[in-house]
Amino acid sequence: MGDMTYIKVQHDDELAIVSIDRQEKLNALNAEVVQELGEVFTRLGDDDTVRAVILTGAGEKAFVAGADIGELSTMSSMSGVAVSRAGQEVFRAIELFPKPVIASISGYALGGGCELALACHLRVASEKARFGLPEVGLGIIPGYGGTVRLARLVGLGRAIELTLSGEVIGAERAQAIGLVSLVAKQDAVMDEAKILARKITKNGPIAVRLALESIYRALDTGTEAALGFESSAFGLLASTEDMKEGMEAFLDKRKAEFKGL
Ligand code: COA
Repeated sequence: MGDMTYIKVQHDDELAIVSIDRQEKLNALNAEVVQELGEVFTRLGDDDTVRAVILTGAGEKAFVAGADIGELSTMSSMSGVAVSRAGQEVFRAIELFPKPVIASISGYALGGGCELALACHLRVASEKARFGLPEVGLGIIPGYGGTVRLARLVGLGRAIELTLSGEVIGAERAQAIGLVSLVAKQDAVMDEAKILARKITKNGPIAVRLALESIYRALDTGTEAALGFESSAFGLLASTEDMKEGMEAFLDKRKAEFKGL
């Protein structure tokens, strides 16, 4: 993946660490960053050596300080729709990514940056992280799924408060309202993200994938259909070597060695 301008990928055993690196603009999302982000997740989805992804912003000052306001300032109505749809498509691909995606957040996660964190499955923040959807202060609204995902995560009242006020909140409040799973010291945030990732990757990868899929499907379907999917996935897992291994290991009082088969 050496041909990308703004996205860097490192591998740490089964983890892929994806870094958005446009530090001179606080990692703001221009069209090229969004496109590269889409490409990188497509490639990592096909890479069987990757069991989880940690998404971060380069440097300590920002995760992502938003969509690129310079670019947005010249949009027309129709190009505005296109910009929003292009970002939504990439963020939705992250949300539907078949392996866990954890955002490791230092500094600003504002606007599109906050929306990007919301599209990830889990969020770990440094104590210096700052979250907010300041779009209304620019005369626009969140356009990368923020009006949809924030309320699901933190509840309607808090989502309305944050979206309509544009207020920026610190890591402590973000954790209190469930926006982030945990808060770490600035120099420990990536390590904590890796620890959280490995609590997941030690488990059966097909089970993890189907659990994620079942949870997200339930958001978009009725209860009966969602329960039906859960049962089918539950039954499907009975055909995997990983289920045999997981249960045998428990009965043998040893650690399971999952192969993703
Ligand atoms: N789009 C484009 N450029 C951005 C940006 C964004 N969302 N956020 C920061 N930048 C740029 C700044 O314009 C500046 O560029 P310059 O050095 O060429 O002037 C550079 O990044 C550094 O930012 P700066 O504002 O000087 O840093 P700061 O520490 O004073 O303030 C913020 C940091 C995050 C408070 C401030 O940059 C900010 O409010 N950014 C916009 C946040 C926002 O509204 N996001 C939602 C967009 S939809």
